[in-house]
Amino acid sequence: MSDTNNQGSQSQHIHYHDPNAKFDPPERLIKNAHIKSFTQYQQMYEQSINDPELFWSQIAEQFHWESQSSGQFLDYNFDVRKGPIFIKWMEGARTNISFNMLDRNVEKGLGDKVAFYWEGNDPGDHGKITYQELLEKVCMFSNVLKGLGIKKGNRVAIYMPMIVELVICMLACARIGAVHSIVFAGFSAESLSDRILDANCCAIATADGVWRGSKLLNLKSIVDKALEICKEKGKPVATCIVVRHMSVLSEEASSDSNNVGEAPDESPVGKRPCKKLKINWQPGRDHWWSDLMKTADKNCDPEWVDAEDPLFMLYTSGSTGKPKGVLHTVAGYMLYAAATTKYVFDLQPDDIYWCTADIGWITGHTYVCYGPLGNGVSGIIFEGTPFYPDAGRFWAVIEKYKVTKFYTAPTAIRSLMKFEDNFVTKYNRSSLRILGTVGEPINPEAWLWYHRVVGNSECAIVDTFWQTETGGHVITPLPAATKTKPGSATFPFFGIVPAILSDEGKEITGPGEGYLVFKQPWPGIMRTVFGNHERFEITYFKKFPGYYTTGDGAKRDEEGYLWITGRIDDMVNVSGHLLSTAEVESALQEHDAVSEAASVSHPHHIKGECIYCFVTLKEASHLGELFNDELVKELTAAVRQKIGPFAQPDFIQNAPALPKTRSGKIMRRILRKIAVNDRDIGDTSTLADETVIDTLFKLRPKDA
Ligand code: WT7
Repeated sequence: MSDTNNQGSQSQHIHYHDPNAKFDPPERLIKNAHIKSFTQYQQMYEQSINDPELFWSQIAEQFHWESQSSGQFLDYNFDVRKGPIFIKWMEGARTNISFNMLDRNVEKGLGDKVAFYWEGNDPGDHGKITYQELLEKVCMFSNVLKGLGIKKGNRVAIYMPMIVELVICMLACARIGAVHSIVFAGFSAESLSDRILDANCCAIATADGVWRGSKLLNLKSIVDKALEICKEKGKPVATCIVVRHMSVLSEEASSDSNNVGEAPDESPVGKRPCKKLKINWQPGRDHWWSDLMKTADKNCDPEWVDAEDPLFMLYTSGSTGKPKGVLHTVAGYMLYAAATTKYVFDLQPDDIYWCTADIGWITGHTYVCYGPLGNGVSGIIFEGTPFYPDAGRFWAVIEKYKVTKFYTAPTAIRSLMKFEDNFVTKYNRSSLRILGTVGEPINPEAWLWYHRVVGNSECAIVDTFWQTETGGHVITPLPAATKTKPGSATFPFFGIVPAILSDEGKEITGPGEGYLVFKQPWPGIMRTVFGNHERFEITYFKKFPGYYTTGDGAKRDEEGYLWITGRIDDMVNVSGHLLSTAEVESALQEHDAVSEAASVSHPHHIKGECIYCFVTLKEASHLGELFNDELVKELTAAVRQKIGPFAQPDFIQNAPALPKTRSGKIMRRILRKIAVNDRDIGDTSTLADETVIDTLFKLRPKDA
């Protein structure tokens, strides 16, 4: 790994971006940064991989341990040939993560500091909660859970909007040693019931409803349906706790239940928009959050749990279709969440930190809740969407709270780029210091826009690669130390030993491309797939024995920078050339008329496979562009020019919108079906909008 010179080519209008152009860490960050230079990063990195025990035990010192372990700090087996896979950090030590997030910070004098600002869907709807207040609410809700018979080790499902009660609920579970299983409140009743059943949850917490943009969701009715399915399958859920978020009760609810009273102002923060929602009520099973909290004691001693006791599970999609319950444990996850947040966002005491992810995804778990709280900073919980009331919302919120560190997804950046820069520039963003991205490869075009327009060319961009399974960032720049190249996630975080493997499983040591794997465990790595350890071993450790396999491809360039090329299953082999669909997409995205592009593999009688592209144009009205033969020619030329003639797509079709999951991931599985005109597209339950499918079938090129 070499520290190299900046070539100073920070042109404002890079079209075909030079992949070796580097951006220096912003000068103004360096003075107070935790890690001030690449050399310092390298020294710490070496220590972290040569002596992980020393490195992580120093990080552990900032946390409270009720008792220390007498055993090994780290014990693991990463090699299926030697026996079952296991990973144990600090086993035998006892702690509690809610104590470390709350009591410890209050003891340090941060009681009056704002833990979270809450920004509602409606711009006028907002509030805040301090560390002391959060501690009190968490203790109260912990007592509520205990009162309902919930014990250490029990699983509690959470299906909630982005409200403070969601964090209270997570931390209360953690405080009593229960395992939270959060399901993003955008999943269908069926997906929710699948997850409740798989985890065998004894209780669920939800809210009556929520506005998402201009759409009103009745969450309670979705939960009712899910619980109905659980009952039919012989596993009824005993307890359903409902936060009154929308305030107005239906007549059915009040007549059905004797514990539904006047709508109290139950929430710790914020005003509530009133809206009549039809809420059905099942007495005995259903409880209003506020009723339970009324009499709850404000003190609750934490349950001291083992470092390796489970903290939470979170489902992630698997290639077989059945979601996997990724299980994380207490201590390792805590250390890793806190350390990555501290170093990657270079946290400072006066930061206002905003991660836009929903807590229903891993990004929200680690970088809305546990990471920021573990560092005692002030964060933002945002209930809304980037487009409500208009495409300036993100930047309005940044101005409102003077956000210093901002973290969002490439898909959001690309969709916001479609609008005029004025949507961004009319807001004051001078507080911003670091801009992060996560979730998918970011194309240089989007990176450069994020850097130049959002960051006013003065902020560090951190393109963080990681997975639900890794618990936190694994490949990422450090903002005051790493020179960045747009589109590269750069170098490994502390404790991470990446390797790039060939098809035969040989390590490619110099520049090259192949499978991205990790050679040794880090504290935040998942411990198992809930209820199916064999699936854990098969999915992650079987293909290349001795390594954790990410499922992603990566390329190492001449300077040692790592570039994630996308999921291995999204690789296309054109005439023996292994191509990443992300590479093709990035080339297409550099064209002025293109807002978003996706490419998939398509069978070809001579080449084996060829590339089929779906292209979404920037608003046609505003650009005067239309999808025509001329444009297809230009796009084809763009890919030839960027990657090489062999990469030339065979098909490029108009795609007014792309099929995406609710978390914004493009569903290439469906695009592959459309590309081959196969209407049997399978399960579409995770699609955000099903109507795009028909449109895409209609717009297929005639020769495809
Ligand atoms: C997959 C994991 C990690 C939180 C959100 C997604 C892709 C993630 C990047 C990045 C390129 C990325 C990978 C990975 N991915 N971040 N910075 N550059 N690709 O979590 O749902 O578990 O998805 O997202 O393909 O394997 P997830």
